Order: sequence, then structure tokens, then C-alpha cells
Amino acid sequence: MSRHEIDVEQLARSVVAPVADDQDRRAEVSLRPSTLAEFVGQRELVRHLEIVLGSARARNQTADHLLFAGPPGLGKTSLASIVAAEMGAGLRITSGPVLSRPGDLAALLTDLQDGDVLFVDEIHRLSRGVEEILYPAMEDRRLDVMIGRGPSARAIRLDLPNFTLVGATTRTGLVAAPLRDRFGFVGQLDLYDPEDLTVIVSRSAGLLDVTLKGEAATIIAGRSRGTPRIANRLLRRVRDFAAVQGHEVVDDDVAVEGLALFGVDEFGLDKIDRRILGLLCRQFANQPVGLTTLAHACGEEPSTIEEAYEPFLLRDGLLIRTPRGRVATERAYQHLGISPRGGGLV
Ligand SMILES: Nc1ncnc2c1ncn2[C@@H]1O[C@H](COP(=O)(O)OP(=O)(O)O)[C@@H](O)[C@H]1O
Ligand SMILES: [Mg+2]
Repeated sequence: MSRHEIDVEQLARSVVAPVADDQDRRAEVSLRPSTLAEFVGQRELVRHLEIVLGSARARNQTADHLLFAGPPGLGKTSLASIVAAEMGAGLRITSGPVLSRPGDLAALLTDLQDGDVLFVDEIHRLSRGVEEILYPAMEDRRLDVMIGRGPSARAIRLDLPNFTLVGATTRTGLVAAPLRDRFGFVGQLDLYDPEDLTVIVSRSAGLLDVTLKGEAATIIAGRSRGTPRIANRLLRRVRDFAAVQGHEVVDDDVAVEGLALFGVDEFGLDKIDRRILGLLCRQFANQPVGLTTLAHACGEEPSTIEEAYEPFLLRDGLLIRTPRGRVATERAYQHLGISPRGGGLV
């Protein structure tokens, strides 16, 4: 794509999906904070990490194993590389779905250098067999491998170097209890408040050489659903829009118009959110709807609805979960500009 074109594919895609697409992955490398000091927000978590990492450094030891939990796009992968940088350690990256066989993990573990950080993304998706290799490795830096088969098989024990396992998961509840218990520290990341997101947007604008004026940073931040990844993506889309329109700087009007072009409204909702709420309010007449039914009606996967869209709709009071299913709130009706019919209004 040249600098002066709008990416039509991007127009069709959801710009507020919190999970990274290929474009994000490329762009995010340069936007990633590389030290704890650069990491905006999540103050309590950052304070705790400073203590955990600082004391390990003072003792000249590797840090405890760390688990980061929270919705996509909030900074878990960034924190893993920050941990390695702060400890002056090497970083190895893998993920639950990639480590399909115990041997895959064994190969990685035996290849670690002393002090390395091993980052396992989506750690809740490890298979049982792989998890069982991980337990003694985390606890005693020990790897038990079976040599041979049948009656002549025997176990040999290998000592592993010191390492810090950093795990990331979208929900701690998904991590098996014995695995969770082996982490010395569990950090929960929460959606960011608008002030922190404004700082992130301004910082990224500096790195991308985009000039923001007036309230533009606040406007972009306010529509980013509490998620830095979305904030950075919306900033890039607004930058594209400004370039096409020949604007040198992004002021309030350019920001608002650019976001409108990509279907993002003043609440930060996009077409899929509005489809979800529209279905609940209109088609289902606000009778409680189960997740699977709702997902089918939207043409999305249930996990996408549950993990990517719902957290924000819930937090913003547009949707609630009842024991019988999802319902839209009065705020949702107001936002869509339709009047409620039927019962069940919350
Ligand atoms: N606290 C933060 N400060 C600044 N930028 C952040 C912060 N958290 C996340 N980001 C930005 O958001 C992007 C996505 O973060 P990432 O660590 O990949 O999230 P996750 O692994 O939780 O999905 C990063 O590339 C980074 O630019
Ligand atoms: Mg990640």
C-alpha cells in the first residue's frame, strides 16, 4: 500500500478487534515499550514487577516464574520482552499451540542459556503431556526423559540451566491449577483508562512521526476500548486518512472523520458490536440469548464474541450476562437510537 491510499481490505475488516493481525504485528515491533519505565499504566502490576525483578537482580538470581493474564492487546507480550531486557537476559518465544509434543518443549528447554527468559504465549493451550514436562522443569530445573521403549526403557534426568518462565493467558481461569501454582507471581492486566491510553497514543504518534493537535489523542484514545493495540491501530488508520486527504496534522476533525470512515463510533463500537447489540435489541427483542446462538446470528465464532467483543460491551454497560443469556441494556437501545419493545429491559 502506498502512503496515499486507504487500505480497502482494512476498511472491510474490524478495526477494533483486539487480537493482532499481520499488519499489527509488523507495526507493533516499533511501538513496543522496551523498559518498565516506558510501559504506561497498570501501575500496581508495574510496581510489583519492579520489586520482583529488582530483588532477583540484587540477589544475582533469575527472577521467579511469572504469569501475565488479561484480554488481548493489553501488553502481555510486551511485558515478557521487558522482563528479559530488565534482567539483561536472552528471550526465547513460543506458544501453547506450537508446542504440540513433549519433545518440542524438551528440545527448547535443553537449548536454553543460563538466565534466559522463556516466554510461552497462550499457555492455557498446552497439552497435558507437555505440561507434565514443564512441572519438574519449573520446580527443580529438571527434565526427565524416557529413553527407549518397552521393558528396556529407562528414564534419564537432565539438569537444566536457570531460567524464568513467563506465561501469558487471556484468562487465569483457563490455566490448570497445578501449572498456575508453579508461578511465583501472577499479574492481572486490566483495560486501560482513557488518560493512560491518551499517553500511549501520543507516544506512538511521536514514534510514527504523526503530528496530533488539539484533542486528537484523547479522541482516538476514547474510542480504543481500553486496549493499547486498538489505540495504535486506530492511530495508524487516522494517519492514513490524513495522508489521503492531504492533512499535515491530525486535528480533532480529522480524527473524528477518519474514525467514522472506518466505522468506529464515539463509543469505540464498530459494525460487529453494533450487529451484536442490534440483534439483541431487534431480532431477539431482548429476550436472553445464549452465546452460541448469538455468535451464529452474527456469523462469528463464539470465542470471538466472548473474548474480543463482550468484555468491552460488558464494561461499558451496553450488555449484561444473565443466567439465561445475554441481554442489551437501556444504554444500548439509546446508543442505537431505537426504542425498546417487549419486556426484559435492563
Ligand atoms: N502499557 C503499554 N504502554 C505502551 N504501549 C503498550 C502498552 N501495552 C501495550 N502496548 C502496545 O500495544 C501493542 C500490543 O501489546 P502486546 O504486548 O502485544 O499485547 P498482548 O500480548 O497482551 O496481546 C504493543 O505493540 C504496544 O505497542
Ligand atoms: Mg501477545
